[in-house]
Amino acid sequence: MICVLGGRSLRGVVPISGAKNAALPAIIASLLTTEPVILHRVPRLLDVETAVRLVQALGKEVCWEKDTLKIWGGEKLSSEAPAELVQRMRASFLVLGPVLARTGLARVPLPGGCALGPRPVDFHLHGLSRLGARITFIDGAVLAEAQRLRGAIVYLDFPSVGATEQLLLAGALAEGETVVINPAREPELTNLTELLRKMGAEVTWNTDHVVIRGQEELGGAEHTLLPDRIEAGTYLLAGAITGGRVRAVNAEPRHLFALLDRLSCAGCEIDYGEDWIEVRGAQRPRAVDFRTWPYPGFPTDLQPPMVSFLAIAEGRSTVTETVYAARFGHVEPLIQMGAKIQVSGSVQIVEGVGELRPAAVEATDIRAGAALVLAALAAQGVSYVRGEQHLRRGYENMEGKLRGLGAQIWEEEG
Ligand code: EPU
Repeated sequence: MICVLGGRSLRGVVPISGAKNAALPAIIASLLTTEPVILHRVPRLLDVETAVRLVQALGKEVCWEKDTLKIWGGEKLSSEAPAELVQRMRASFLVLGPVLARTGLARVPLPGGCALGPRPVDFHLHGLSRLGARITFIDGAVLAEAQRLRGAIVYLDFPSVGATEQLLLAGALAEGETVVINPAREPELTNLTELLRKMGAEVTWNTDHVVIRGQEELGGAEHTLLPDRIEAGTYLLAGAITGGRVRAVNAEPRHLFALLDRLSCAGCEIDYGEDWIEVRGAQRPRAVDFRTWPYPGFPTDLQPPMVSFLAIAEGRSTVTETVYAARFGHVEPLIQMGAKIQVSGSVQIVEGVGELRPAAVEATDIRAGAALVLAALAAQGVSYVRGEQHLRRGYENMEGKLRGLGAQIWEEEG
């Protein structure tokens, strides 16, 4: 478990790693070719390890050198994704399209629900069947078959990040043009687009759709991942919640304007340059309302950490979660720490309490875990956060980075 002696203001500079949610589709994109794909700035965290093991299980060779990952080979790809890896991480489902496009057949277990509520894959399957895949279900797995995928027009009911990635990946090897209407526009998709273009795919983004012109085959590429905006937001909030002053470097301010706007309304002072952002916490922040929304809206992945911050603000904040049905895993443990939060449907009403108290709490997913660590940093005394494997899934060296900002945080058995 993670132990935090809270009550100190965090101060200093924190370097931001490459984005987890760009690394996962980029690693999976390597399945589209046998030539080397070289990725720089890859964060060393558990989900990345799972993705690496997955492409290895499918037939790829990999080698690491510091934060550079080289993936190659896989002339004969396996069509079966191991259930154990897919169930560990939902993003594994993205192998469906690339494996299908390469081998004509793919069998990938359904990832199932998770701590954020039901997370179906119907948009992925709708998209791939529009591209000509025959989809059946066998023993809890999806079986997709197609001699060659054929480009088509696909409308997404919601701008799903994963479904858009799935269609970019599959469309890149399909015959003809794939047009995705209402695609997701998260920066991680821009990064994936850059990688696919380097591999030889033709991808054109328009205001309301994206066009992928498929190729017979794709080649290798060398690519650098973008900074992790959610990691940067988490550490800036750690500064804000402790009334400190934190500067995130090697970061991209443009990707965090929604968060910075709300922090500024809450009374924090914000400054930024080309690749850094600094937040100075207020004596006592003010309540602000926000709702999560697809990019450039407020990211759902920062909703739980932002709720921790609002828990100590002055006044009542209304927080509406529109991306997930039930992303409230942080609420009960925050209440244990003295927060006043009421959930009604998709809305959390947060009555700021000024001070949180230390407690032993449990993280149920990556961002709920981050929210609890932030709350623990603000609470006077020692808190214990169990479920630390969730933090290890999504954050590279979180304890080390927080210690660099002056936090007293350590790990204990139990
Ligand atoms: N959805 C469907 N059907 C689908 C796909 C999605 O109903 O076929 C629903 C989901 O259940 C959810 C909403 O659409 O309610 C949005 O899901 P989306 O597909 O956009 O999410 P994702 O691709 O599964 C990625 C990130 C998440 C992040 C979301 C939203 C990765 C690996 N994961 O998930 O990150 O919350 O986009 O921005 O990129 C995290 O890092 O902690 C994390 C959960």
